[in-house]
Amino acid sequence: MSSFPETFLWGAATAAYQVEGAYLEAGKTLSVVDESIAPEYADTSIASDHYHRFKEDICLMKELGLTAYRFSIAWTRILPNGRGAINQAGVDFYNQLIDELIKNNIEPIVTIYHFDLPVVLQEEYGGFSSRKIIPDFVAYCRVLFEQFGDRVNYWLTINEQSNMFLLPYLISFTESSEQSLLKQKYEMNHIMTVAHASAVKLCHELLPDAKIGPALGVSPVYPKTCNPKDVLAAEKAEELRNTFFLELYCNGQYLPSMQAYMKEHDCLPTIEVGDMALIKEGKCDFLGLNYYDSKTVEHVTALERGKELVINTSGEVGSTEKEVVEGIYKGCSNPYLESNDWDWEIDPEGLRITLNRIYQRYQIPLIITENGLGGIDTLTENNQVHDDYRIEYLKKHLEQIQLAIVQDGVAVFGFCPWSFIDLISTTSGFRKRYGFVYVDRTDTEVRELTRYKKDSFYWYQGVIRSNGKRL
Ligand code: BG6
Repeated sequence: MSSFPETFLWGAATAAYQVEGAYLEAGKTLSVVDESIAPEYADTSIASDHYHRFKEDICLMKELGLTAYRFSIAWTRILPNGRGAINQAGVDFYNQLIDELIKNNIEPIVTIYHFDLPVVLQEEYGGFSSRKIIPDFVAYCRVLFEQFGDRVNYWLTINEQSNMFLLPYLISFTESSEQSLLKQKYEMNHIMTVAHASAVKLCHELLPDAKIGPALGVSPVYPKTCNPKDVLAAEKAEELRNTFFLELYCNGQYLPSMQAYMKEHDCLPTIEVGDMALIKEGKCDFLGLNYYDSKTVEHVTALERGKELVINTSGEVGSTEKEVVEGIYKGCSNPYLESNDWDWEIDPEGLRITLNRIYQRYQIPLIITENGLGGIDTLTENNQVHDDYRIEYLKKHLEQIQLAIVQDGVAVFGFCPWSFIDLISTTSGFRKRYGFVYVDRTDTEVRELTRYKKDSFYWYQGVIRSNGKRL
């Protein structure tokens, strides 16, 4: 028996800079991520060459049976100067992409902003470090709503505000020496929240039938033991990592404990008159959740100094260095969970826990906008990829979604695993692959970029055909 609603969106996801390539073609300019991929990995100039092969790729989506496709629009393709003149070639590309999807009965789910800030705006005023970004972001959104709103029903404002806040180098935000890094992060987060809410409001005005929400990066936090000190550390970590953002998006307010934290640490953002009213008004229609793993923390003694998280970007097991948030918590590993080569702890039940923590509190429709396993895939001599590890990962996560729907009453309306096709991992190039479709290239050799269907492709095809009866 399937518990997935008949209208469930069976999707898959990508982001512009990770798949498109053509990064300086047809009027496009560079974004901050085009410049920030580590030199040992493939750059975004060709990526998976989706820009030139999107028709072939949509044929594969059709064959896979997708009913939805989450992709992002490159701001720099639409507005090469970050604002002002529209680049018609950029609009034409996304028009063709959207039309081709619709022709194949695939619902487009559009991410407006996926880390790829135009470099020009970064250089001019430091991007999201400045309130000047708000009118520019809103103007960009207006262009998208006016150009594509007649065909796009689902919009995602900002991808992983939480991760950009926790790992600010993801958007290379401009650090200044005048304020503490902490204060700058909270300022940036506030500006992003105002930008997000303004986009939601504009969407509601211009496209009353469309639905809009953020794509939030979430990981539930567990205490290392039942020692109340560890439990408290985990609750604080959950607030800092997840509830802080959820309260802003869903209730338009700063969580009281976060207000106290920001006061105590002298990092209260500048809140202008009207900001909080706007954030409240710009309430989203649904939440997109990017879920990969859970986190475990323990209490930290008064003597321990803070330490930033160092992520594993090489796939060398054990090279992650967990963070210490002074006086609050420190990260540790979970002995009940296995990890992938990048030390991400695989935790399907954690997805059910997350869905419950969020839905029972906010009762807002949820869609999984990312979930998947990054791994080193091998193409066999007869061009097959036996990625049973990926099938196992996705199957177990889908089982938990099913349980959340049936046993916990959670409203989940879609699943967009990461990723439809192999692409440049944000942190680890083509070495770390996620796709259902293999792209024949490596970080150093571009090759023919031929597409091959992995075993997971055929598995997911069966899942979709049976509407989740056959996992
Ligand atoms: C999410 C991002 O954080 O995780 C994606 O939205 C990213 O852009 C994905 O690719 C997986 O992370 P990584 O570092 O393995 O590519």
